[in-house]
Amino acid sequence: MDLQLTGKVALVTGSTKGIGRAIAMSLAGEGADVIINGRSAEIVAKVQAELQANYPNVTIYAAPFDLSDETQREQLYEKFADIDILINNLAVFEDARFEDLSLDEWRRYFEINTIVGIDLAKFYLPKLLEKNVDGRIIFIASEAAIMPSPEMPHYSMTKTMNLSLAKSLSRETAGTTVTVNTVMPGSTLTEGVEKLLASLYPDIADVAERERLFMENNRATSTIQRLIKPQEIGDFVTYVSSPRAGAFSGEALRMDGGIVPTII
Ligand SMILES: NC(=O)c1ccc[n+]([C@@H]2O[C@H](COP(=O)([O-])OP(=O)(O)OC[C@H]3O[C@@H](n4cnc5c(N)ncnc54)[C@H](OP(=O)(O)O)[C@@H]3O)[C@@H](O)[C@H]2O)c1
Repeated sequence: MDLQLTGKVALVTGSTKGIGRAIAMSLAGEGADVIINGRSAEIVAKVQAELQANYPNVTIYAAPFDLSDETQREQLYEKFADIDILINNLAVFEDARFEDLSLDEWRRYFEINTIVGIDLAKFYLPKLLEKNVDGRIIFIASEAAIMPSPEMPHYSMTKTMNLSLAKSLSRETAGTTVTVNTVMPGSTLTEGVEKLLASLYPDIADVAERERLFMENNRATSTIQRLIKPQEIGDFVTYVSSPRAGAFSGEALRMDGGIVPTII
């Protein structure tokens, strides 16, 4: 299938590792030019060079900005005003019990996981609507958006907000070829999750054993009983980003390994 992504420009927030990096790779593999984002100029440049070497037919751009900082978001908008695809992938997550979470920590989660995506959509959606050529905004939420994680109440709340926001924004696209959707990955083997597993099972050194215990004890409803590979999410998001997927609008799309035990 030709996904018709050649010549499109995609911004993937938080794309120096994990799911964001996998989305960037998959988009580049399908012919899209990709803007790599992360906080460190050095790491962004490294990922940019790696992807550029692997995908010489597209252009990989560097956007080393801390998007939790309003001034740096302005710098991003100035440098990359014209894009076709916005993947709001950036989010933070750590395990924490409700009683240990300060209000400042709730505010930090709200700011990074929710406000950043709102601000980017405020800047890019009007431009995508004006252009009206298969523009795409995709929020990367989580299965925790519809099945809050007991070890991450703060994170789960922000992910539920992503769903509501994407649905509201999709209303703004009525009658255009622009779409706004959410993809909800289940637990995926990224650097962030590796850290989470290490904090949950500090006495277990073997990574595969940590994964097995995590799936058995913490993700028992997963029917695939393994962590999802970032590339699986990357490929799916790339399809949803494509003009071929124009009939998804305001959808909350699950790719969660069966972890949510409900029909829809
Ligand atoms: N992994 C999972 O199991 C899972 C499951 C469901 C949903 N998700 C969602 O998938 C998305 C990606 O998760 P992940 O596991 O791939 O995360 P990750 O491995 O922790 O990677 C996070 C990325 O965001 C960047 N980043 C962090 N803070 C930033 C900031 N302030 N400004 C710009 N970039 C920043 C990091 O780059 P630097 O550190 O270089 O800045 C990195 O590239 C998130 O929305 C997450 O909620 C993940």
